[in-house]
Amino acid sequence: MVPPDSLPVFQASLERCLGDSTFTQRFYARFLLSSDEVAQRFAHVDLKRQSNVLRSSLYLVLRGAMGYEDGREHLENVAHTHGRLGIDIPRHLYDYWLDCLVLAARETDPHFGPDHERHWRACLEPCIAVVTKTHP
Ligand code: HEM
Repeated sequence: MVPPDSLPVFQASLERCLGDSTFTQRFYARFLLSSDEVAQRFAHVDLKRQSNVLRSSLYLVLRGAMGYEDGREHLENVAHTHGRLGIDIPRHLYDYWLDCLVLAARETDPHFGPDHERHWRACLEPCIAVVTKTHP
């Protein structure tokens, strides 16, 4: 599912990011500015709480990328809650999600080098494919 050479680079970088509480706050600051559609979705959401929700979620997304069952289940749950019968998030908003997450990682991880973006994308794209399978 995920290229084996990308996984350790992504894991180390994500763990450095998650060790910094500003990472997910930075992400939401960017994500909300990425489009009006995104901003509308979060208009009534407590962003401080949501930043913590995303932090816990990203640990499980990493475990999903590594092939662990709890991580795979988490991705399936997010697919369900974000799908057509849930909050119905369209596929194109995941492109903004990924772009903003990579930008926030670049700002947060002091070891983020020229190859990191490629490894982040290689690990997260298959996870997004699971989450958006009903929104192809
Ligand atoms: C792979 C990417 C994503 C992951 C892992 C993720 C994860 C989560 C999780 C764990 C929650 C809380 C529980 C739940 O509803 O499942 C949540 C809520 C939410 N997510 Fe996502 N999400 C992703 C992408 C997106 C995108 C692209 C949007 C577009 C705007 C979005 C908008 C929301 C909203 C509006 C909520 C509800 C907040 C609330 O009402 O409390 N998510 N997300």
